Amino acid sequence: MRLSRYFLPVLKENPAEAQIVSHRYMLRAGMIKQQSAGIYSWLPLGLRVLNRIQEIVHQEQVRAGHIPLLMPTLQPADLWRESGRYDDYGQEMLRIKDRQGREMLYGPTNEEMITDIFRAHVNSYKDLPLTLYHIQWKFRDEMRPRFGVMRGREFLMKDGYNFDVDRDAALHAYNRHMVSYLRTYERMGLTAIPMRAASGPIGGDNTHEFLVLAQTGESEVFYDDRVTALKLGSREVDYDDRAEVAGVCAEFTTLYARTDETHDAGLFEQIPEEHRKVGRGIEVGQIFYFGTKYSEAMGAVVTNDKGEKVPVEMGSHGIGVSRLLGAIIEANHDDKGIIWPEGVTPFPVGIVNLKQGDAAADAACASLEKALLAKGLEPLYDDRDERAGAKFATMDLVGLPWRITVGPRGLANGVVELTSRRTGVSEELTPEAAVERIAEIYAGR
Ligand SMILES: Nc1ncnc2c1ncn2[C@@H]1O[C@H](COP(=O)(O)OP(=O)(O)O)[C@@H](O)[C@H]1O
Ligand SMILES: [Mg+2]
Repeated sequence: MRLSRYFLPVLKENPAEAQIVSHRYMLRAGMIKQQSAGIYSWLPLGLRVLNRIQEIVHQEQVRAGHIPLLMPTLQPADLWRESGRYDDYGQEMLRIKDRQGREMLYGPTNEEMITDIFRAHVNSYKDLPLTLYHIQWKFRDEMRPRFGVMRGREFLMKDGYNFDVDRDAALHAYNRHMVSYLRTYERMGLTAIPMRAASGPIGGDNTHEFLVLAQTGESEVFYDDRVTALKLGSREVDYDDRAEVAGVCAEFTTLYARTDETHDAGLFEQIPEEHRKVGRGIEVGQIFYFGTKYSEAMGAVVTNDKGEKVPVEMGSHGIGVSRLLGAIIEANHDDKGIIWPEGVTPFPVGIVNLKQGDAAADAACASLEKALLAKGLEPLYDDRDERAGAKFATMDLVGLPWRITVGPRGLANGVVELTSRRTGVSEELTPEAAVERIAEIYAGR
């Protein structure tokens, strides 16, 4: 992509309405535009990151054996009357009437609808386990939409629902989600800590929230800081192996990590003082086992291996896809702008031409662009007729992890400069070597 032909409406000034850094940088880098309180357009750069995040979410869900589908944003009120939530949901639900006077709503979540799909098509344990998920826009008429995409009214969520024949199988689905979420966040360059959340009506250890540590987070968190060193890394996990999956979950949930809702001062005091930390976190996901709450209310029953009809065991599991952009920026920035982790960057690398119009510099940039494209790595090439300082400032703000700087002086020696956005360290190397290096960095992305 050439910047001269792109749509990247960068703002020079800090927008007054933005209170936190991620919101400020998303507006300044031309990623989003507010259209109404808590409702945003995704401009091209923002959309690229949003798409990248969705891709990772899909890949990790499919890896865990979960199956994508797509449910509509608009739902009939009657479905929600079956579960009793049409009245319970209150003011957060956006209620709409169509021209026939039928009551509809813009879905804030999809438990009822997925249960309706399930009961229409599945009636035997032989078709289980089954986990269906989608990535779809939600609407919640939040009292205080704020911090940009962090707390929107319209926001993109991955929500998945498991259907299992018994409690043990459903808890395995819960654990599978935990592991797949850990891998998802790690691929985005995030440390998201599973924290015990307030238990539902069933009680017990049935729900975890995933929190990214950040000063600007809305939740207060209490944790043993050794939990931040835990990594899934590249290890293979067999998602069908209940003991193995449960083992990984135990590894990540044994150290103390809780939000203020579940905090236990007595247990917290037992952590060695040097590891005892209080901070703030951003909730980027939540997993929940709720058993037969919806299946009983809505008549989603299956026949088990003894021929008995039983309500199906369920859970629901969400990832805040659009919120993740904010969380990633909160965790990865400096005073010049965003620093995208390689996993989610909108472009893998930027090319800065220091002397647009210089025949050698223009040709070198074009050939770098071509070589990168041939490797499936689309660069953002700043080919505008601008001062070098302005080009660097834009690249730093936009936050591509790598920049190749091309100028007549370097080219005279056969080199370009490769700079890491994170460390600021530059090295000179031939254009070919620069392309190879970028390809190595993104291998297996
Ligand atoms: N208003 C919102 N704006 C952006 N993301 C949201 C919003 N509400 C929830 N999310 C994201 O969706 C995920 C799943 O939602 P859920 O746990 O049902 O929401 P909540 O925690 O508000 O009850 C949350 O972990 C969060 O990351
Ligand atoms: Mg939640």
